[in-house]
Amino acid sequence: MPSATPTLLHLDASARRRSFSREVGDAVAEAWRSAHPGGRYLHRDLALTPVPQIDEAWTELCDYVLAHQITDIARYAEAVRTPEQAAAWAIVEPLLAELVAADTVLIATPMYNFGIPASLKAWIDQVTFPKMSLAGRRFVVAYARGGAYGPGTPRHPVDHQERYLRDFFTGHFAVPDAAMAFLGTELVNARVDPALAGRRDAHEVSRSAALTAARKIGGEW
Ligand SMILES: Cc1cc2nc3c(=O)[nH]c(=O)nc-3n(C[C@H](O)[C@H](O)[C@H](O)COP(=O)(O)O)c2cc1C
Repeated sequence: MPSATPTLLHLDASARRRSFSREVGDAVAEAWRSAHPGGRYLHRDLALTPVPQIDEAWTELCDYVLAHQITDIARYAEAVRTPEQAAAWAIVEPLLAELVAADTVLIATPMYNFGIPASLKAWIDQVTFPKMSLAGRRFVVAYARGGAYGPGTPRHPVDHQERYLRDFFTGHFAVPDAAMAFLGTELVNARVDPALAGRRDAHEVSRSAALTAARKIGGEW
């Protein structure tokens, strides 16, 4: 279970400093910190300090956990049997410790090529083990994307950003819908693509709605 002290784990994944996912994520974090003056705030910038890709030794840890039906995260270290596996575990352990301590996980992410950035996927691959439950935690995703992918839009079927994260949190981490919030800034490309200039107002409406929701969620969760 999460630690007794309210803890927010805040992950950033945009390659940009001036980023719309960072803007909304920061608004959530600021509101959360005001609402939890004694809380613990952990921040990890996956774009600035990427975590490595998993390696073969990591897969051996994973297979051991599965073969021995270990579902208690506190017992994963039992899987370490070789120096290579110890090196793989040395990468996983601090990432997992932050995740396990958090009662709220805030992920700020751009859409890259219909999906999430490789930096965020590398983190997910490192911290995810078979039959692992993160039930009891809340997940807030602040996302940005160049186009519009909401329900009813032609691109909705290729939204592998929100759709993927929602499916993964539900299907693998056992997080119910009520414990997830997705705050999206859409049509960011209207700021740079002349072909989308007519969608600039729609982008600003989306950005403003995401910021309003961010302050509310951050203050309440
Ligand atoms: C490498 C790359 C790939 C992108 N792929 C897409 C895409 O598939 N669909 C889309 O709508 N926007 C795409 N975009 C636009 C970004 O989603 C958009 O700029 C968004 O604001 C990025 O988030 P950020 O502002 O937090 O950096 C892409 C941008 C980059 C740099």
